[in-house]
Amino acid sequence: MQDILNAIVTKAEAELTGISSRPDFEAAKARYVGPNGELTAQMKQMGAVPKEERPAMGKLINETKGRVQTLLDASLARIEALELQAQLGPAIDPTLPSPDIGPGTYHPLTLVREEMCRILRKVGFTVADGPEVETEYYCFDALNTPADHPARDGQDTFYLPESVRFGNISKKNPEERYLLRTHTSSVQIRTMLKGSPPIRIVSPGRVYRRDTTDATHSANFQQLECLYVDKNVTVRDLKALLDYIFESLLGKDTKTRFRPHYFGYTEPSFEVDLSAQHLPKVKKEWIEIGGCGMVDPVVFSDVGYDPDVWSGYAFGMGLERLAMLLYGIDDIRYFYQNDLRFLKQFA
Ligand code: DAH
Repeated sequence: MQDILNAIVTKAEAELTGISSRPDFEAAKARYVGPNGELTAQMKQMGAVPKEERPAMGKLINETKGRVQTLLDASLARIEALELQAQLGPAIDPTLPSPDIGPGTYHPLTLVREEMCRILRKVGFTVADGPEVETEYYCFDALNTPADHPARDGQDTFYLPESVRFGNISKKNPEERYLLRTHTSSVQIRTMLKGSPPIRIVSPGRVYRRDTTDATHSANFQQLECLYVDKNVTVRDLKALLDYIFESLLGKDTKTRFRPHYFGYTEPSFEVDLSAQHLPKVKKEWIEIGGCGMVDPVVFSDVGYDPDVWSGYAFGMGLERLAMLLYGIDDIRYFYQNDLRFLKQFA
């Protein structure tokens, strides 16, 4: 009997270690411990065993059952592990760098902004920053823009509710409202109040207007502001700087021209047009790019600079429009849709 049982175990061991699927396992299990299984058949013979041998025999059979069950458990565990592995797919090394994420790319507006700052740093300008939430003083009053100026209208400017407080932006007087800056010219005032002349700053940043979005308008966009304050600054210096930066950015065939205009904070004031017909997709000869002028003496007096001693120029321009010119982009909305098919072209 013992030999028979040992033979069953040996056979079960050989068979079960070679099995790798559930149906095979179930069939093998039935062959040993099922109702018609080999081990079951041996147990059925217990009745024929003489009474005094039964306890020893029973023990032997129970031991054998235990050994076969252990083999069955191990076989099932192995099959389950194989099933899990099939679900998970091939083994991976989680310490390897991901194959599909590249090094990333800069946004085209970042590229143009950084390039403009680099061009301006070369001629002595430093980068100045200012808050996007402003008070009426910095955005309008100090820039000689009277209360009834259309730019201040609630239809053009995003004003914040009266109840809102900003601990880091202080009001000149309690009546003032907070707003989202409509231009980066506010940084001119902050810079002049903080420092003293001579001043040479460039300040890029986001601005907000209540515009309806279309191919050329966006309720938030970016500007780049420059302010130069020194002795004996003239319109020629302003024109020379604009020629220099646009030739540097867009190529030496680029031309600039001034058209007389009005801004409260400059006198005289101009609108600046660019001609860059060597660039792809440029159809018009002259493209308006920004505003500029000589800092108005009223502005100097307001920040405590003697207008008889100090002179200066300032200009501001839209970064989107520059980027559109440079890269031949025909819709401003592309900059803000975060479509990777667009963004990846600037890698
Ligand atoms: N702030 C003007 C705008 O947003 C642009 C501008 C005009 C900036 C004249 C200046 C300036 O610094 O002197 O349209």
